[in-house]
Amino acid sequence: MLDKKVSTLLNAQINKELFSAYVYLDISNYFYEEGLEGFGNWYKIQAKEEQDHADLILQYLQNNGEKITLEAIDKPNHTYKEFKDALVVSLQHERYVTDLIHTIYAAAVDVKDYRTMQFLDWFVKEQGEEEKNTEDMIKKYDLFGSDAKALYMLDSELKSRSYAPPSLVL
Ligand code: FEO
Repeated sequence: MLDKKVSTLLNAQINKELFSAYVYLDISNYFYEEGLEGFGNWYKIQAKEEQDHADLILQYLQNNGEKITLEAIDKPNHTYKEFKDALVVSLQHERYVTDLIHTIYAAAVDVKDYRTMQFLDWFVKEQGEEEKNTEDMIKKYDLFGSDAKALYMLDSELKSRSYAPPSLVL
């Protein structure tokens, strides 16, 4: 059995991870509609990774005998006037998720729940990587986005991203 607050926050995080998948799928759809298939591919894979994150938390709760409560997933509600808007939305979203993970971690620390801390260590690292990936993408876009040929090459580079299952196995 986990502490009630920790368990409630982890349950809520399943929803937030699935919402993250929705946000990234929405961004992916936007880029596909705009003809940037590499960016579309990159964000579609990102959406899959978020589904994996939800699944990992779900499995962790199940492994600890906790009840899973699934709530409705919010609708993504962003509009993008230009390509960079979508990139900035994704960075802001990752920072928001990092804060959520840190909040769960802090709740686990409060009750000396070392098992959940160890589980969440992977997520803390993952969030760091995801923020950096998105920051790098924005940097590259700032450098090359205004040049059509360079944007084409950047988009082609992003087409090569392929899905890999999470390194965390429960
Ligand atoms: Fe699983 Fe990037 O939040």
